[in-house]
Amino acid sequence: MKLLVIGSGGREHALVWKLAQSPHVTQMWCAPGNAGIALERLAKNGALVENVNIAADDLPKLLVFAQEKKVDFTVVGPDNPLALGIVDLFQKHGLKIWGVNQKAAQFESSKVFSQQFMEKYGIPTASAGTFSEAGPAKAFCATLGGKCVVKADGLALGKGVLICHNQAEAEKAVDEIMVSKAFGAAGANVVIQEFLEGIEVSLHALCDGKTAKIFPTSQDHKRALDNDEGLNTGGMGTYSPTPFLNDTQLAETARRVLEPFMRGCVAEGIDYRGLLYPGVMLTKNGPKILEFNARFGDPETQVYLTRLESDLVELLEASASGTLAKHKLKWSPLASVCVVMASGGYPGNYAKGKPILGLAQAAMLPNVKVFHAGTALKDGQIVTNAGRVLGVTAMGKDLSAAQAAAYAAVEAITFEGAQFRHDIAAKAF
Ligand code: AMP
Ligand code: GLY
Repeated sequence: MKLLVIGSGGREHALVWKLAQSPHVTQMWCAPGNAGIALERLAKNGALVENVNIAADDLPKLLVFAQEKKVDFTVVGPDNPLALGIVDLFQKHGLKIWGVNQKAAQFESSKVFSQQFMEKYGIPTASAGTFSEAGPAKAFCATLGGKCVVKADGLALGKGVLICHNQAEAEKAVDEIMVSKAFGAAGANVVIQEFLEGIEVSLHALCDGKTAKIFPTSQDHKRALDNDEGLNTGGMGTYSPTPFLNDTQLAETARRVLEPFMRGCVAEGIDYRGLLYPGVMLTKNGPKILEFNARFGDPETQVYLTRLESDLVELLEASASGTLAKHKLKWSPLASVCVVMASGGYPGNYAKGKPILGLAQAAMLPNVKVFHAGTALKDGQIVTNAGRVLGVTAMGKDLSAAQAAAYAAVEAITFEGAQFRHDIAAKAF
């Protein structure tokens, strides 16, 4: 089988690495990929994965490439091509592809849509209102005493969520999004949620339109600095499993979230085939959904796929073809920890092109896999090429062993300005 993977981050490196282990795969491309992806070899025949210089959101070029190479199956990593309708486009041309279609991608591309869906189908979420005008939005904030979260409806590069502690902050947030249009058209409508206290975890479920298979729990670390200080980022590190939901509680959460979700999708004519990633707050009144993402998390994927023992090609094909009920997801009992090494200054301004040293030494350490996120090959050397550079991932018999192994590998790697958190997985202890 010939596979095309779309994207270039740590998530996509993890997808490529895991898909390459499948005996079904004879050739693989990644568009646009990164320097680490181009070092992966297929288990079947030892062939290298090839990067293709096409951007992840250049749908017409991706289509032509898949047609020319007679790609058998395309796997989409990021949300942007999904929201642009890459799945609908490929299917229209008779190509097999994995990921949600444009209608299903709305769960991520519109927070208003998601909030209204959750309320309609009884999915546990924060008390909330959705607004298209600033006046009523501010009045609603006042009913929450100003302790609320104001969210721009559309995709805003993860920046459209403003946490407010009092009414003055809430009014400023509403003005910023709806009046000054800080996030452009993404802020024409807003969702305002009550501020929820608790522990935040990531859930993932693979869906095929009828069936949803829940993954174990994981937890991301969104702030740039130790102790959850500093600015919000795309995610600085993850671990799985978490101690916050036992198997019974996870099954109960899946029942309370995924059953109404799938039922609601059928009722609304949404054929949800792909990954559902709910962000969840574990509050004293039970789990509440903060938002839905319609793709794998980054860096959640790095810890999930190191733990997944089942063949990922078979699972994604089953998700796309509606035959997931026949499959069982098998997980390693080992724990996995991923520490993101970022460019100095991220998520603000940062330099690119810094040589990365020690990758070979890190790769020799036991139970370690270094996923590349933002790297490129320049004059034969691997250099930094984005904010998040590497996802240094390690397995261990428990979380503390996995954590120690991951940080030992981080210590082996250096590049100018490297920045990482020292407390990934610490909340579990
Ligand atoms: P979102 O993109 O909606 O997941 O929001 C980004 C981050 O803001 C989340 O990961 C949470 O840490 C925080 N957040 C979002 N909604 C709430 C809420 N209702 N209460 C508390 N924190 C929230
Ligand atoms: N882990 C954060 C995200 O993928 O959105």
